[in-house]
Amino acid sequence: MPSNTLTRTRLAIVFTVGFAAALGPALVAATPAWSAEGGRPSISKKHFGTLAGGEKIDVYTLRNSGGMRVKILTYGGILQSIEVPDSRGRPANVTLGFDNLSDYVKKSPYFGCITGRYANRIAKGRFTLDGKTYRLATNDGPNHLHGGAKGFDKRVWKADPFRRGGSVGLVMTYTSPNGEEGYPGTLRTRVVYTLTGDNRIRMDYRATTSRPTVVNLTNHAYFNLRGEGNGRILGHELQINASRYTPVDKTLIPTGKTPGLGGTPLDFRAPTAIGDRIDNKHQQITRGGGYDHNYVLDGRGLRTAATVVEPDSGRVLKVITDQPGLQFYSGNFLDGTLRGTGGRLYPKRSGFALESQHFPDSPNHANFPSTVLRPGDVYRTTTIYAFSTVS
Ligand code: GLA
Repeated sequence: MPSNTLTRTRLAIVFTVGFAAALGPALVAATPAWSAEGGRPSISKKHFGTLAGGEKIDVYTLRNSGGMRVKILTYGGILQSIEVPDSRGRPANVTLGFDNLSDYVKKSPYFGCITGRYANRIAKGRFTLDGKTYRLATNDGPNHLHGGAKGFDKRVWKADPFRRGGSVGLVMTYTSPNGEEGYPGTLRTRVVYTLTGDNRIRMDYRATTSRPTVVNLTNHAYFNLRGEGNGRILGHELQINASRYTPVDKTLIPTGKTPGLGGTPLDFRAPTAIGDRIDNKHQQITRGGGYDHNYVLDGRGLRTAATVVEPDSGRVLKVITDQPGLQFYSGNFLDGTLRGTGGRLYPKRSGFALESQHFPDSPNHANFPSTVLRPGDVYRTTTIYAFSTVS
């Protein structure tokens, strides 16, 4: 038996066990072993690296019939690589990342990770819930950012692969103990990544808690639809379905107001190149060093929040979400010192993030949609990165 066949056979056994755990035996019985051949959806696992404490980190490679290949790490639940065809069918990796574990541990500015327990900022690392004040790490000037010193982006997630029809995916789980990073309650967290046959990465989040707490989960992928390491993102045309936003103070904490975007250089209701107004002297843009703002999305339910078109490659990304907000971050803190997956340096603004979320600092703003989760309630949210092309 050739060794690759042997490997596949072993993988099929491993994954069948995984399915049983994640989805129950009924689905397993109907699920044949699959392979990467003939454009069929597939999933495989390899060792990616070992943490200083000895924990082994895996990388899963998911393929679909639409020409996409997505790599996901058990470290941080990181989307390490997203290969997508351009309008002529040529694939490129459109997300920023590293080719090794050590760079993720030591220097990652949240590339591709699951971000939590609270994505974005909490002012002065402090919030009060049911009369009790909780203190969190201040890891961003005076504020708490992206879950603290060791947030969900730096945790090891359990991964169970599955296949359903033309889709393949991973069920990622992590249990955050009561008090971790200062947050109350044991938080049982599940993020299901699904790569569909029609070139979507779907992320279904679920969490439950043992005590009242706050939660705000997102994915922090940086995109460059020209391909990572292939220049800046200033020519990408962005459209965001938001009429309002949450302006920030000097430390990027919302003031609490939600003014209209009309007449400001932050208004993306009509498709506009990211670079067109990025150096505008508007106070909000200078505060963010570019765009680093939460948009109050129009509408409710699962809807298109943003559409990005990259004219040279013809690649299109739609972000679809049920969340009330979307942080548009134009990669202002990238500074040309990080070397990415393909061996090239990442200059300022060579990637952008569109983080679906609740509004930053919601625990300290009673007028913002609530991020409180209580025992017995289930936190659920869905975000989809949908890829396509225009010619
Ligand atoms: C988010 C924040 C930014 C920055 C990046 C990571 O997008 O809003 O200010 O912290 O994450 O560098």
